[in-house]
Amino acid sequence: MTSPSDSTPVPLGPILVTGGAGYVGSQAVRRLHQAGVPLAVLDNLSAGHRSAVPKAVPFFEGDLLDENRLSEVFAQVQPRSILHFAALCYVGESVRDPAGYHLVNVEGTRRLLDAAQDVGVKEFVFSSTCATYGVPHALPIDENHPQNPISPYGETKLKVEQMLAEREKDGGPRFACLRYFNAAGADPSGTHGEDHSPETHLIPLILQVALGQLDKVMVFGSDHDTHDGTCVRDYVHIDDLADAHMRALALLQSGHDSLACNLGTGQGVSVREVIAMAREVTGHPIPSVDTKRREGDPAGLISDARRAGSMLGWAPRRSDLRTLFGDAWRWHQQNPSGYSN
Ligand SMILES: NC(=O)c1ccc[n+]([C@@H]2O[C@H](COP(=O)([O-])OP(=O)(O)OC[C@H]3O[C@@H](n4cnc5c(N)ncnc54)[C@H](O)[C@@H]3O)[C@@H](O)[C@H]2O)c1
Repeated sequence: MTSPSDSTPVPLGPILVTGGAGYVGSQAVRRLHQAGVPLAVLDNLSAGHRSAVPKAVPFFEGDLLDENRLSEVFAQVQPRSILHFAALCYVGESVRDPAGYHLVNVEGTRRLLDAAQDVGVKEFVFSSTCATYGVPHALPIDENHPQNPISPYGETKLKVEQMLAEREKDGGPRFACLRYFNAAGADPSGTHGEDHSPETHLIPLILQVALGQLDKVMVFGSDHDTHDGTCVRDYVHIDDLADAHMRALALLQSGHDSLACNLGTGQGVSVREVIAMAREVTGHPIPSVDTKRREGDPAGLISDARRAGSMLGWAPRRSDLRTLFGDAWRWHQQNPSGYSN
């Protein structure tokens, strides 16, 4: 895996991080805090964990939909920039509750942007997703691929991308839409990592099998049009995502135009290959059972992440599968009950 030649630029604060108690957001918070950047977190703790945020970082419990709370937080923090991670983010749940997803992800972001424009926020980095592309016409997927989401979750993220472009014309902040592929891994220290309830992501589910918390891992579809019949995904380490956020924000702060970038490795890994790596790293047999495909699951989702390389100077450093698994396994071994430990 290549390394960026230059060190990560340090953005200016104060920065407001929404969803900063969540899985990906809290890693960006830790990185910014370690770099000495003034910042604050807004999170309603619906899926996040208070203990994922360093004690020294100001924490505001509050909801994106609560306009009074947003005004209070903005008055206190006076952010120049926003990193916006807060969202509902389960594809399956979004199919069952599209209105709920629209309310939080689209209307919540609209209220956040209203509050941001009131205090003159200049830069806005948005957690978008490869789910905005829908079923790919070709792999790897570059940023010019048509965006035709097939889930309400993907639709809400695309609507926010469009809202940001409209707002900018109306005096809103310049923005970066960072379209992550599959976020994975844990802080290399083993102290912070993924703790979702219910857990739906493949790697933590596999590691729960290794810990004896689950009997087996389900493989959804073994007849996909891929080299071994199982779904292929592009896994990117949360520490690399945090690094990309710092770079995107610093770039916007330098006056750069708004942009959209994929964040992935450009390498596809199948479910069987993920399980094989888990067996190697954990030394556990990890029983698996093949079952039928999940509706709407594309066979392959692989990024073309060259734009993030050229525009942000970004390259993944911890996203090779062995390193990523090693970090995730350390977190799960040290914290078998997640943050409730
Ligand atoms: N995890 C992935 O693989 C992945 C891939 C692509 C995009 N993303 C996007 O990245 C972002 C972070 O994802 P994650 O995996 O860390 O999810 P997460 O659920 O761990 O984090 C989201 C955070 O937002 C908070 N939140 C939710 N609704 C809120 C509201 N109404 N007001 C205030 N806070 C609220 C939650 O409490 C949580 O701390 C999301 O926007 C997600 O859509 C994630």
